[in-house]
Amino acid sequence: MSNKITEYKKILVVGGAGYIGSACVKVLFERGYKNIIVFDNLDKGRVDLVDSRAVFVQGDLRHKEDLNQLFSNHDFDCVIHFAALKAVGESEKFPQKYFENNVCGTANLLAVMDEHDVKQIIFSSTACVYAEKASGVYVESDPLSAPNVYGSTKIICENMIRDYNRTKNLNYTIFRYFNVAGDVGLNYIDPDAQNIFPIISEVIVGKRSKLEIYGDKYETRDGTCIRDYIHLKDLVSAHVLAVESVNSFEFNLGTEKGTTVRELVDSFVRLNGKFAFETVSARKGDMGVSLADSSLALDKLGWRAVEGLDTMIVDTMVVYNGK
Ligand SMILES: NC(=O)c1ccc[n+]([C@@H]2O[C@H](COP(=O)([O-])OP(=O)(O)OC[C@H]3O[C@@H](n4cnc5c(N)ncnc54)[C@H](O)[C@@H]3O)[C@@H](O)[C@H]2O)c1
Repeated sequence: MSNKITEYKKILVVGGAGYIGSACVKVLFERGYKNIIVFDNLDKGRVDLVDSRAVFVQGDLRHKEDLNQLFSNHDFDCVIHFAALKAVGESEKFPQKYFENNVCGTANLLAVMDEHDVKQIIFSSTACVYAEKASGVYVESDPLSAPNVYGSTKIICENMIRDYNRTKNLNYTIFRYFNVAGDVGLNYIDPDAQNIFPIISEVIVGKRSKLEIYGDKYETRDGTCIRDYIHLKDLVSAHVLAVESVNSFEFNLGTEKGTTVRELVDSFVRLNGKFAFETVSARKGDMGVSLADSSLALDKLGWRAVEGLDTMIVDTMVVYNGK
């Protein structure tokens, strides 16, 4: 890869009005990129999160005519694709909705990119694509097997992207995110909190009565699940590096540091005071340990996570406390 920033590169950010996409757009402008178009159907995104320097186009990946119009009106050098539905529980109840949005949407995007000869994609995947293994530490070459429909949609999208790479020379970067938390100054409040950081934050500010900890009989140091939490700022900086990458890889994005749910709770208490929680039954399909080996991203992209857990907590609480 080259470290030179080609500031006039035209970048399409699909799903750029959501949590991670809007943060990425902000940081791309901060790093000197000038031509950024955001495409989002605003199903979950918010237009006020989109940097005012970006061109915003409202449209839906499931509607190919929206994409045809977008690609006819603009030339792109690179597409960063964040758009997906991501609620695991909902995906099990409504698989068709997830296949249509995540899989058909991505198939449409790849087809239109091909028709317009756009040769670079950066794609948001997830640690949920890995088949469970005893050590709980995942490398990119580990077998893929999704325990839920959401994970299946990501595996299918990854496969489609690899097929376009093989057949059409599409250059890709697939990022498998571990547990994302924190904020980059956009004050993002999750409207539909399903992850532990927003859930704890809602308990602390009185929007929710308590945190439920799912299971304490895992084979971990205190019986609760171990996860690899990564700051949004670090996650997004990997995408910025990938814009200038010319090789195709899958990369894990994590800190390689494990935190149990109890340790996370204790850190929130240390930094914000006591809040209510209780332990309930373990959830089906939750792995005991899920940790990234991110050495490939260091080797190939020169990327490593730098922010720690306390910064993720403090940055999240600034948002939820409304400061
Ligand atoms: N947030 C996480 O912890 C996490 C973890 C692993 C992977 N991911 C992946 O990262 C990506 C971004 O996640 P996020 O947390 O920012 O989610 P988000 O819901 O905040 O953002 C997704 C955006 O995509 C848009 N969108 C969805 N379907 C669309 C469609 N058919 N057409 C146009 N726009 C559409 C939504 O309106 C939203 O603005 C997703 O692909 C998600 O699966 C997220």
